[in-house]
Amino acid sequence: MIVIRAERPGDRAVIADLVERAYAAVPYSDHREHLMIERLRGTGAYIPALSLLAEIGGEAGGHILLTKAQIRSDLSAVTTLALAPLSVVPEFQMQGVGKRLVSAAHERAAALGFGSVLLVGIPSYYPQFGYERLSRYPIELPFNAPDENCMILPLRPGALDGVAGRVQYADGWIDH
Ligand SMILES: CC(C)(COP(=O)(O)OP(=O)(O)OC[C@H]1O[C@@H](n2cnc3c(N)ncnc32)[C@H](O)[C@@H]1OP(=O)(O)O)[C@@H](O)C(=O)NCCC(=O)NCCS
Repeated sequence: MIVIRAERPGDRAVIADLVERAYAAVPYSDHREHLMIERLRGTGAYIPALSLLAEIGGEAGGHILLTKAQIRSDLSAVTTLALAPLSVVPEFQMQGVGKRLVSAAHERAAALGFGSVLLVGIPSYYPQFGYERLSRYPIELPFNAPDENCMILPLRPGALDGVAGRVQYADGWIDH
């Protein structure tokens, strides 16, 4: 049985370990995703209710993190959420754990009143949840990334109407 729950104070080391294991064999990974979570923890962008753990038969097997970011222009600043990282340990991959984590994160984010989620990720994975290419919107990232990897999802109809600008991630997002 898969249980999805928000992280608790004692979960920190378990999350770091599972994230590191999930990305260990990923060729495009810098294998520092777990350190990014630690950096973000100390910032106002970190929302413990949107750091979700998947327990499979009582064992921690997956994790997803959504952190606050801004879409800024000269005229406006709109809060969005950045999805990263999404991690399922190899022994539990391809069993629907990732899908459960993404869906649960969307539901909880919408319930908290957030309007959208953006990410840079696997192009074949995220469209099943309704993600569209970011390039369809007047929104740009603060770095170069292939168009097909950059995606965004409005969490409710019209949430991105009139939203334009450049994404400003939380301090700690980028590894200096
Ligand atoms: C990518 C990841 C989160 C998917 O989670 P998962 O629990 O294994 O996947 P699910 O069981 O929810 O979904 C399975 C579906 O996703 C697809 N999928 C899974 N991993 C994929 C990958 N790396 N690339 C493309 N598609 C993938 C499968 O083909 C399958 O499709 P189907 O439903 O049409 O058969 C997981 O494999 C993982 O943690 N990988 C290592 C870290 C990583 O790459 N994270 C994502 C970075 S954007």
